[in-house]
Amino acid sequence: MASSRRRTAVMPSFGLAVLMLMMATAAQSKLLVNGTDCTIRDPLNNVTFDFNALSSDLNHHVTSEESGERFFFNVCDEHQSGKENRTEPGAYLVRAGRKITLGYEPHLQLDDGRLQFSFTGEPCGNGSHYTLDIILLCSYERTPADLRVIPHTPDQCRYFIFWDTPLACQPLPTGLTNNRCTVRDGADRHAFNLLPLGGSNHEISLPDGSRFVVSVCKPVRYGHLTMCPPGTGVCLVNGTEYRDYGQAVPDPKVDSSGRLVMELRSKSETVCQNSVIVFECSREDGLETGPVYRGRKDNCTHEFLWRTSLACRDTRPCSVTNPITGTRYDLGLLANRTYTLTSRDNQTYELGVCRIPASSRCPLDAGACEVSAKQSVGLGAISAELQYETTGAPYLLYRSGAVCDAASGRRWETRLEFICETDPVEGGRTGAVVPPIVVENGECQLVVHFETVLVCEPSLMACGAYNESTIDQYVDLTPLVDSARNYEARGGEAHGRRYFLNVCRPLVPQYGLSCRGGAAACEATFDGVTARNETTLGFPDVSLVVAGDTVLMKYLRGDPCPQDPLTNLSTTVAFHCVPKAGRGTPVLLEIEHGCHYRFDWATAVICPPERTIPFESTNCSIHNPATGSWISLDGMLEDLSLCDKRPAATVDYRAGALNLHYTLLDATNCSHTNGVKSFNVTVLCAPDSPLDRTA
Ligand SMILES: *[C@@H]1O[C@H](CO)[C@@H](O)[C@H](O)[C@H]1NC(C)=O
Ligand SMILES: *[C@@H]1O[C@H](CO)[C@@H](O)[C@H](O)[C@H]1NC(C)=O
Ligand SMILES: *[C@@H]1O[C@H](CO)[C@@H](O)[C@H](O)[C@H]1NC(C)=O
Ligand SMILES: *[C@@H]1O[C@H](CO)[C@@H](O)[C@H](O)[C@H]1NC(C)=O
Ligand SMILES: *[C@@H]1O[C@H](CO)[C@@H](O)[C@H](O)[C@H]1NC(C)=O
Ligand SMILES: *[C@@H]1O[C@H](CO)[C@@H](O)[C@H](O)[C@H]1NC(C)=O
Ligand SMILES: *[C@@H]1O[C@H](CO)[C@@H](O)[C@H](O)[C@H]1NC(C)=O
Ligand SMILES: *[C@@H]1O[C@H](CO)[C@@H](O)[C@H](O)[C@H]1NC(C)=O
Ligand SMILES: *[C@@H]1O[C@H](CO)[C@@H](O)[C@H](O)[C@H]1NC(C)=O
Ligand SMILES: *[C@@H]1O[C@H](CO)[C@@H](O)[C@H](O)[C@H]1NC(C)=O
Ligand SMILES: *[C@@H]1O[C@H](CO)[C@@H](O)[C@H](O)[C@H]1NC(C)=O
Ligand SMILES: *[C@@H]1O[C@H](CO)[C@@H](O)[C@H](O)[C@H]1NC(C)=O
Repeated sequence: MASSRRRTAVMPSFGLAVLMLMMATAAQSKLLVNGTDCTIRDPLNNVTFDFNALSSDLNHHVTSEESGERFFFNVCDEHQSGKENRTEPGAYLVRAGRKITLGYEPHLQLDDGRLQFSFTGEPCGNGSHYTLDIILLCSYERTPADLRVIPHTPDQCRYFIFWDTPLACQPLPTGLTNNRCTVRDGADRHAFNLLPLGGSNHEISLPDGSRFVVSVCKPVRYGHLTMCPPGTGVCLVNGTEYRDYGQAVPDPKVDSSGRLVMELRSKSETVCQNSVIVFECSREDGLETGPVYRGRKDNCTHEFLWRTSLACRDTRPCSVTNPITGTRYDLGLLANRTYTLTSRDNQTYELGVCRIPASSRCPLDAGACEVSAKQSVGLGAISAELQYETTGAPYLLYRSGAVCDAASGRRWETRLEFICETDPVEGGRTGAVVPPIVVENGECQLVVHFETVLVCEPSLMACGAYNESTIDQYVDLTPLVDSARNYEARGGEAHGRRYFLNVCRPLVPQYGLSCRGGAAACEATFDGVTARNETTLGFPDVSLVVAGDTVLMKYLRGDPCPQDPLTNLSTTVAFHCVPKAGRGTPVLLEIEHGCHYRFDWATAVICPPERTIPFESTNCSIHNPATGSWISLDGMLEDLSLCDKRPAATVDYRAGALNLHYTLLDATNCSHTNGVKSFNVTVLCAPDSPLDRTA
C-alpha cells in the first residue's frame, strides 16, 4: 500500500508538539497532539499552526442566539498565561447576571485534524465541570464569519464555539493567495469566474468507504478527518491515509477541445494520480451540486464533472449572474427607453439603461446627461456591461463624460444601481419600475437608484422564520417590510448620527442618502439638508432566526469597520413582541467595538393572536387586556348593529385586524346549518389611523 506520507515514520517529541498515537479501532488510529505556547504541529504533514494572533486586547465575546447568554474568552493571552496564579478566568459565561467560570488556561489540542482550545471551569453539579471547546475551522476569507455558539440548553455543562480563521489553514501556495479563479476566452473575451465555487470542501464517497475531498480555486480546507497534504485540490481519504490526487490551481483554463477545465497534478512521486475537473454549463443546477466523480480517464487521471451556471458562455448584454446565488439578472426590459428625472435641486437628467434611444436629448454615445433649455451635458458613455461585486446591487457604470473639474481634468461619470423592489403590488417580472431616483449629483458623480423586481432573488430572504421551540409556529415579519419609506431608528441623536433601516429589503432610495446601493441599513450625519458621511451597515442577504422570544435579523458585509479594518460593519435587529407597540420603531442599543450595531425593535406584529377577548354587554365594548385598550362597538359598523349580537372577538396582530364572530338564528332553517347563520366580520385599521395596530 503506497502512501504519500508515512505516519509511523514520525517520532514523538518535536519540541512544540507531542504526538500520541492511540489505537481507536483496528482500522483507524487516532491522532491526538497537544500544543504549547499557542502553537501546534501536525506531524502527518509537518505543518505548524500558530494561533498567537488570535489573542485580543479585549476579550472575544459571542452571544448565544438561542438563550442570549454571553460567552467571553481569550486565548493565547501572553499577559495572563505567564502568571503563576491567574486570577481572571480565560473564559466565562454571563447567565442572568451571574458570571460562570468556564476555565482559566485553555488547552490546545489537535484531534484527528480538529483544532481546538479546551477550557475546564467551575463545577456544574453532578460532579462534572463546565467545559468550553473552541473549535477552529480553516477559512480562507480575510473577514471570516462571526463566531458561532452551537445550540445548548441551560442545564448543559458543555459548550462549543466555532471560529473560522485563516490561522487554522495550512499555508497557501504562492499563486493561490489572491487568485481570481478566472479565465477569459473567445473572441468576446468572455470571463469565466469560478471563484464563487471555491467557498468550501466537497466530499464524494466511494463504494469502498474511502472518499474524495475536492476544492477549487483554493486548496482543500484542513479539518477534522481532512488532514490532506498542503496545497491539494483533490485529496483521497482512505482510513487514516490522506493522498494528494492533484494540487489546486489558481485559475481554470479552456482546453484544446474548448472545455472549461482545471488540471490538477499530484506532487506525490510514488503514484501517478492526477485529476481533471471539467466544468459544464448548466442552467438548472444551483451552485450547491458540487463535483461528481466520473472515474479514471486514463491510467493516471481521475475525472470529475461539475455542472454550474458559471460555466455558461452566453454573454448577453445587460445581464449578469449573481456570483453568490447563481441567479441571472437580465435588465433587457429596461433598455432602450429614455428616463427623464429631476433631482431635488431641480436639475433635469435623461438617461438610458444599457441602450438609449436616438430620440433622447443626450449627446451621441452618452448614456446619461444633464439637460437644460439650451444644451445637454454628457455624464458618461453608454455601456451594457452590467456589473456585480460580491455585495451590493448590480450596477452600470458610464465613464468619461464631459469634463467636470477643469483644474484636475476629472470627468463626469454615472452609476446606475439596481435595487430589488419588494412591493408585491408592483410585482410580477414585468419590468415595471418605480421611477428612478437621483441619490447623488455632486463631486463629478451622478448616482441613480432604480428599483425593479428584475434584480430580486427568487427567494431573496424569507422574511420570517420557524420557531423551533413551538413546532410549526412561523413568525412572520413581512408586515414590517416597507416599500414606501425607510424606518429611522431612535437612539442615534446623542452622537449626532441618524440610522435608516428597512426590514428584509434594501433601503428605499431617498435623495441625499447614498449608502451603497442595496444596503438595508445606513448610518449618516444629517446637516438639516442632506445626509453626509454615509456608512453602509449591511445588506439584506441573510435569513432570520428565532431565538427564544425574539426574532433576530442580521445584515452583514457593511463597510470596513474603522476600529478594525479586517471586520466589516454589521447590524443585528432583535424584534420582540409587545402587544401595545403597534408596528413599533427600531432603537439603537449599542455599537459593539465600533463594528456591530445592535437595534431593538418592540412590535405587535410578531405577537401571537389573541384568541378570546371578552365582550362587555353593559357598554357594548370589547377589552383587550394585553394592550389595556377598550374598543367600543357602538357606532362601529352601524349597519350591523353589533351590540345586541354578543360577538366573540379575536385579534390578529400580524394583519392588524380585529375579527368578530357571531351567529344568528336562520329563518330559512336549513337543516345542514342547524338553523344557525354564522357571521365573521374583520375590522382593519385604516392604514394611517393613529390607532394603527394598537388595538
Ligand atoms: C495532552 O493533554 C491531555 C490533557 O491535558 C493529557 O491528559 C495528556 O496526557 C497529554 N498528552 C501528552 C502526550 O502530553
Ligand atoms: C518540518 O518542517 C521544518 C520547517 O518547515 C523543517 O525544518 C523540518 O526538517 C521538517 N521535518 C520533517 C520531518 O520533514
Ligand atoms: C500563587 O499562589 C500560591 C499559593 O496560593 C502562593 O504560595 C504563591 O506565592 C503565589 N504566587 C504568586 C506569583 O502570586
Ligand atoms: C446529572 O445526573 C443525572 C442523574 O444521574 C443525569 O440524568 C444527568 O444527565 C446529569 N447531568 C449532567 C450534566 O451530567
Ligand atoms: C468587507 O468589505 C470590503 C469593502 O467593501 C469588501 O471588499 C470585502 O469583500 C468585505 N468582506 C466580506 C467578508 O464581505
Ligand atoms: C482504501 O484502502 C483499502 C485497504 O487498504 C484498499 O483496499 C482500497 O483499494 C483503498 N481505496 C482506494 C480508493 O484507494
Ligand atoms: C495503462 O495501463 C495499461 C496496463 O497497465 C497499459 O497497457 C497502457 O499502455 C497504459 N496506458 C497509458 C495511457 O499509460
Ligand atoms: C429601440 O427603440 C426604438 C423605438 O423607440 C426602435 O425603433 C429600435 O428598433 C429599438 N432598438 C432596439 C435595439 O431594440
Ligand atoms: C424647484 O422647482 C419648484 C417648482 O418649480 C420650486 O417650488 C422649488 O422651490 C425649486 N427648488 C429648488 C431647490 O430650487
Ligand atoms: C464619518 O463616520 C465615521 C464612522 O461613524 C466616523 O468615524 C467619522 O468621524 C465620520 N466623519 C465625519 C467627517 O463626520
Ligand atoms: C417561540 O416559542 C416559545 C415557546 O412556545 C415562546 O416562548 C417564544 O416566545 C416564541 N418566540 C417567538 C418569537 O414567538
Ligand atoms: C369564522 O370565525 C370562527 C371563529 O373565529 C372560525 O372558526 C371560522 O373558521 C371563521 N369562518 C370563516 C369563514 O372565516
